[in-house]
Amino acid sequence: MTERPRSDDVLSTLRNHPDFVSGADIASSLGITRAAVWKQIAKLRDSGYTIDASPAKGYRLTATPEYSIEEVRAGLGHLKFFPLKNIRFFTSLPSTNSTAAELVASEGADGLIVVADHQTAGRGRLARTWFSPPGVNIYMSAALRPDMPPKDATILTLLAGVAAASALREQTGVNIRLKWPNDLLVGSKKLGGILTEMRAIPDRIQFAVIGIGINVNAHIADLPVDIHTLATSIADEAGAVYSRSMILSALIKSLDTWLAILSTQGKMPVISEWLKLSCTIGKTVSVLQGNTTVTGIAEDVDNEGFLLVRQSDGTLCSVYAGDVLHV
Ligand code: BTN
Repeated sequence: MTERPRSDDVLSTLRNHPDFVSGADIASSLGITRAAVWKQIAKLRDSGYTIDASPAKGYRLTATPEYSIEEVRAGLGHLKFFPLKNIRFFTSLPSTNSTAAELVASEGADGLIVVADHQTAGRGRLARTWFSPPGVNIYMSAALRPDMPPKDATILTLLAGVAAASALREQTGVNIRLKWPNDLLVGSKKLGGILTEMRAIPDRIQFAVIGIGINVNAHIADLPVDIHTLATSIADEAGAVYSRSMILSALIKSLDTWLAILSTQGKMPVISEWLKLSCTIGKTVSVLQGNTTVTGIAEDVDNEGFLLVRQSDGTLCSVYAGDVLHV
């Protein structure tokens, strides 16, 4: 059974009583003390809930925050890979990937999710900065201990892309496509990205951290001018503002579902879904891999998730990393 934190129980009791409910009634229905109720009410207020308190009548919920751990958890059922107590929310962090790596290393947890409303040193691939303003977007990292060798790690990036694109397409209807290996695009503009990092010994991954950044409610016109032509957001594409809690719940559930598919059915279902969502296959691409540029038609991905590029001399080149340009 999924263990739910007490603040979730207090919150659902408040939700079930649109009018006031007394502290004594909450305490007896949940089998906890009135002091514990008070502590959970204070925690909910810290998360942004507005809760009226009257000495005579008790407590009443009057406003719910757009983004909070309780709202995210309320949208999650049972998860196979991420116990609810291992989903952590922070107001601001340098980078959710760094905190997830620290926590999974120190706590030894199997599956852990770190979310921040704001990142002060968000990282993208190839040492780029991931612009992470507060109040508008999703920044999350999932830490896992997959039983696989480091050479298989590309599949985790493709899996995260499939999980994110399918959840976001379902929630918002925006036509998101995947560019190998890790970009979520709408047309040619970037809506999100994935940064997979890991700690490994030669033949085994000790832990992997999958970082996902999604531009949700940011208006790109309000962001630095150098990304105006390169980036987009769900709000800009859909013309509507979305609840980040709802989107993040869907994203976490989708990640959990696809990890279960990977662990029971192997890589093929992930690769075939990735191919359906991809906008890279069939395109002429140019990839800078180390010091060499590989140019040709992106034909397929292999069993490892590497991109197969047919060059003009007919040879098929397997690309395992690098920056892909659609040309
Ligand atoms: C890219 O497209 O280059 C990858 C971007 C990944 C950004 C996310 S935001 C959450 C997590 N924390 C980070 O510092 N980076 C990833």
